Amino acid sequence: MANTAELKLSDQTVQLPIVEGSEGEKAVDISTLRQKTGYITLDPAYVNTGACNSAITFIDGEKGILRYRGIPIEVLAERSNFLETSYLLMYGKLPNAVELEKFTSRIRRHTMVHEDIKRFYDGFSRDAHPMAILASVVCSLSAFYQNEKGTPEEVGELTRIRLLAKLPTIAAYAYKKSVGQPFIYPDNNRNYCENFLAMMFSLPAEKYEADPVLVEVLNLLLILHADHEQNCSTSTVRMVQSSGATTWASITAGICALSGPLHGGANQEVIEMLEQIQNEGGKVQKYVEMAKSKESKFKLMGFGHRVYKNFDPRAKIIKIACDKVLKRMNVSDPLLDIAKELEEAALKDSYFIEKKLYPNVDFYSGIIYRAMGIPVNTFTVMFALGRLPGWLAHAKELSEDKSTKISRPRQIYVGPTLAEYIPLNERK
Ligand code: CMC
Repeated sequence: MANTAELKLSDQTVQLPIVEGSEGEKAVDISTLRQKTGYITLDPAYVNTGACNSAITFIDGEKGILRYRGIPIEVLAERSNFLETSYLLMYGKLPNAVELEKFTSRIRRHTMVHEDIKRFYDGFSRDAHPMAILASVVCSLSAFYQNEKGTPEEVGELTRIRLLAKLPTIAAYAYKKSVGQPFIYPDNNRNYCENFLAMMFSLPAEKYEADPVLVEVLNLLLILHADHEQNCSTSTVRMVQSSGATTWASITAGICALSGPLHGGANQEVIEMLEQIQNEGGKVQKYVEMAKSKESKFKLMGFGHRVYKNFDPRAKIIKIACDKVLKRMNVSDPLLDIAKELEEAALKDSYFIEKKLYPNVDFYSGIIYRAMGIPVNTFTVMFALGRLPGWLAHAKELSEDKSTKISRPRQIYVGPTLAEYIPLNERK
């Protein structure tokens, strides 16, 4: 096969290189197109644009495949734990026992946040959205580490460890603030997930043992969220990192991007939608019709995906986990029945079939978070905790790539052509 593509424009023809990935995905490399022809490509929302080469995560949206560093998500969900998966994403291979122990104990040693950071929480109202707090505190932390000594690689590495270690503490403090309870310091004798649950749910007055079912399911959810190649928040992280900003800054930007209802914020919206359906007597068909109507702006939250056009493998795993976890915890949640009914109604509707809209990772995750006692406004924070190693892996990959340039898309200008400046007193 020719390894160039011929592009015929009205006034010229140009040859462009074809790039092929390790899984056979092909791309036309248009990076020299403007220089050769004066044309740029236009692809709003990057529907068909590859922004980088990446060796971290592979997705085949047609076949419902998701792999981290080549390992299928189903295998990791069953056999790995969150820190091992984080290592895999960040360093490109599964750690051996010594490497894992070293990585884990480094993270354990950085779980506390500076005491002064606690005062930042006083500035937020009790009902402040925890995603806003998370982003603000992560960004503020950069000011505590602005004079780090060492090479850029050493500083980058320490920042990544600090972020992984501290994000659960920052998130749990945001929750404690909202319920007016004292902040609980991390306990480094506990593992990552236990520690987070203890910081969320324990009280100084009582002994707390994390329920092993909760620890197991939290581990699973974090693994399933850990990376998803060039999604909106990860692309944001890469873009900010490309300017040479600190990893604190790029992760803050990633958290902000994730908060949107079309991205990570969807998990909160799904539960709110299911609650609304419940309050109206469980009329799922009404919501299916609303989602199809061009007049209503309503979308079925937790449905559809830019890449998956068959099924979302994460949603498949979470749906099974949902049944299991609720059973093991002896919880019966009517929202699960509504969610299943809604899924069934949508999946047999021609609108959803034709547009290839399936439940995504956010459709069932909220039901598990609810059963765990996580408040609805903290669901997206849970997504951020899971996605952090993916963001860090991408920030690292980009920083280590010698060919990295600052990200800077072009545009087609559609505003006024050369215009006159009219003095204020002459303007109508
Ligand atoms: N309900 C009803 N219609 C939908 C939905 C939905 N959930 N999703 C897409 N469509 C329609 C959409 O209106 C469009 O119709 P038309 O061709 O007539 O204009 C068509 O399907 C294609 O959708 P799109 O919006 O052009 O697709 P996209 O790739 O730009 O958006 C999406 C993907 C996930 C933002 C979108 O499906 C959506 O808004 N879903 C609901 C929000 C959600 O669940 N987000 C979480 C995504 S997964 C986790 C994550 O990435 O954070």
